[in-house]
Amino acid sequence: MSNRMWGGRFKTGPSAIMEEINASIDFDRKLYAQDIKGSKAHAAMLAKQGIIPEDDARKIAEGLDAIKGEIESGSFTFSRALEDIHMNVESRLKDIIGTPAGRLHTARSRNDQVAVDFRLWVRDSLDHLEAQLTDLMKALVVRAAEHTHTVMPGFTHLQSAQPVTFGHHLMAYVEMFARDRSRVTDARKRMNECPLGAAALAGTSFPIDRHATAEALGFDRPTANSLDSVSDRDFALEAMAAGSIIAIHLSRLAEEIVIWSSAQFGFVRLSDAFSTGSSIMPQKRNPDAAELVRAKSGRIIGDMNALMIVMKGLPLTYQKDMQEDKEQAFDAIENLSLCLEATAGMIRDMAPNVERMAAAAGSGYATATDLADWLVRVLGLPFRDAHHVTGKLVGIASERGIELADIPLADMQAVHAGITDAVYGVLTVQASVSSRKSYGGTSPDNVAAQVKRWQDMLG
Ligand code: ARG
Repeated sequence: MSNRMWGGRFKTGPSAIMEEINASIDFDRKLYAQDIKGSKAHAAMLAKQGIIPEDDARKIAEGLDAIKGEIESGSFTFSRALEDIHMNVESRLKDIIGTPAGRLHTARSRNDQVAVDFRLWVRDSLDHLEAQLTDLMKALVVRAAEHTHTVMPGFTHLQSAQPVTFGHHLMAYVEMFARDRSRVTDARKRMNECPLGAAALAGTSFPIDRHATAEALGFDRPTANSLDSVSDRDFALEAMAAGSIIAIHLSRLAEEIVIWSSAQFGFVRLSDAFSTGSSIMPQKRNPDAAELVRAKSGRIIGDMNALMIVMKGLPLTYQKDMQEDKEQAFDAIENLSLCLEATAGMIRDMAPNVERMAAAAGSGYATATDLADWLVRVLGLPFRDAHHVTGKLVGIASERGIELADIPLADMQAVHAGITDAVYGVLTVQASVSSRKSYGGTSPDNVAAQVKRWQDMLG
């Protein structure tokens, strides 16, 4: 049998393999609510413009509501022969209301229909991501507020560099997720134009009101070029690009959680709720959630790449290739949402080991820069000379297997005669951290001020 929606000029139906490669219903059924919402707005506008009878528009709206109910209750039968969500819904509408169903597709094509459905889905997703990012930032700020004074090593090259506070470290991620959130709101603003009414590609001869449908669907305005309307998916790519950057930030935090929760570091203990055990090694507490967040970032970036590559060679306007947009976007956004949720959960639950962090903060000559700075500030040495003197002192400490603060004054003076015992005051971790008062630095006062700023902004 040829297709009842478009089969007029066809003698036979598609081969089984054609149906298999062509059908998108297995994944685009996810767009049912957006599809029905778009169709209701379209039908109402058609009636208002006198393009279809009011009575038919009413029947169409009632039928569409009934279909929504069927899909949500699980009684709707999806058919692969009907290809996609658009034709599944319209075909069922015909079963329910008869002839008026055929008027719904006036002045519309599946090309603008899918473009509007998918935009509505991406827009909802961006709204959800924004809320999830806000939630994660709040979780980080709560933990940072508890740890404005908790010292830990700051790393470069994963080598102990200078002591920082745990609160400062967590607040670094708040800044990252804040930029992520602004990318999400930017993307939403840019994509919030309605393609409905572009029809197949050229617009329509019917006197439609695109401003009315745009407004009914919560868009800022209709798109201005019909060819562009049905042929670009940059709104999905932009959401996935912003999503990929979020995923990278989440992955870096996840990697730190993996490192911190190892027995060797022991900086944090993950809650039972976010760890798993090993079936053979009873001592293990594996940070699986963090590892999966790290892994899923690869998948999310991969999804974005896949769609970019699908799009890059397509001539205007709609090409069937673009049907491959949805699975990538669904997969990326849904996994990202899961990662945001899991990360917020881990942050809320994790128990920092303050003593372990403090001990590590003081090891590895982490206050060597403070010593060099002291030589500059108190003895007036040029920084390069101070660096050299400090390097010698670190060498002595390292040879003897002791900390800088354990080098006797006489031995320090042998390296530079001007050194006095006031130098020991800058060699403690607390002194080091408290002295970093430059704007954006790690001093507890600074961190407390940043925490306050974000508490005010996040409400
Ligand atoms: N299932 C299609 C998609 O996802 C809908 C649009 C089909 N349009 C067409 N002219 N075949 O892209």
